[in-house]
Amino acid sequence: MSEPWYVELFSSGLYQDIVRGQTAAANRLQAGFVARVLDLPPGADILDLCCGDGRIAVELARLGYRVTGYDLAVPLLDAARSRATEAGVELELVHGDMRDLPFTRTFAGAVNFFTSFGYFDDGENEAVIQGVARVLAPGGRFLIDVINRDYLVARGSPREWHENDRVLFVGTRELDLPTSRSRATWTILDKREAWARREYRVDVRVYSAHELGSILVRAGLEPLAWYGNYEGAPLAVDLPRLVTVAEKAPAR
Ligand SMILES: C[S@@+](CC[C@H](N)C(=O)[O-])C[C@H]1O[C@@H](n2cnc3c(N)ncnc32)[C@H](O)[C@@H]1O
Repeated sequence: MSEPWYVELFSSGLYQDIVRGQTAAANRLQAGFVARVLDLPPGADILDLCCGDGRIAVELARLGYRVTGYDLAVPLLDAARSRATEAGVELELVHGDMRDLPFTRTFAGAVNFFTSFGYFDDGENEAVIQGVARVLAPGGRFLIDVINRDYLVARGSPREWHENDRVLFVGTRELDLPTSRSRATWTILDKREAWARREYRVDVRVYSAHELGSILVRAGLEPLAWYGNYEGAPLAVDLPRLVTVAEKAPAR
């Protein structure tokens, strides 16, 4: 049986080729936004859930936080390790599935960034948030950043493409309204392999704010604020991101 898309895509070197365009400046801007919104004291422990190649985790470590990156894709964890070494920062990196967090200690903050949520069925997705709530200390904060479903409904889903020295990427997407699942096809032509063509079906549950908010509240996390982009603009239907920071009740 073949692996789910999120195992195949992220474990293949191709994902790193697709996102090569992510500049250091963009990583810094996005991590700065995460730090500002989480608003944790210097040196706080932060879990980067689905840290990928560590582009946000390393920047948070540079800002002085103690960061643990957690991810399922071994090649991306290896890339995160190299990135941390290059930057001269410490990063704890742990391999595993977001549905099964192995931590017995707690974190002051957690972040799940860049559409790293919604890969499973509704029950399993909600269980991921409950897992995050469990590993947060009382008063801990969780920032989650996903696609804004309302933006997809308002704007439709135009075809997107980009090219770099390694790949030509073409993405098409359909939003299935009854299930709120974004079903995208990513076609990747690999220039180093004589333009070999690979296709991935990227099937992600997308959320509007009220629904994500209810899931967070059911897990004991109270949303404090909502944003629509990485500059910190308020959530809006014409902005593509749905970002919230939610807080676990402080100890009494
Ligand atoms: C879209 S990438 C985002 C990575 C990173 N947060 C960033 O901002 O660049 C999604 C990440 O989720 C990870 N992932 C996918 N399924 C996972 C799972 N079941 N458990 C843990 N990580 C998973 C992938 O390996 C990948 O690193």
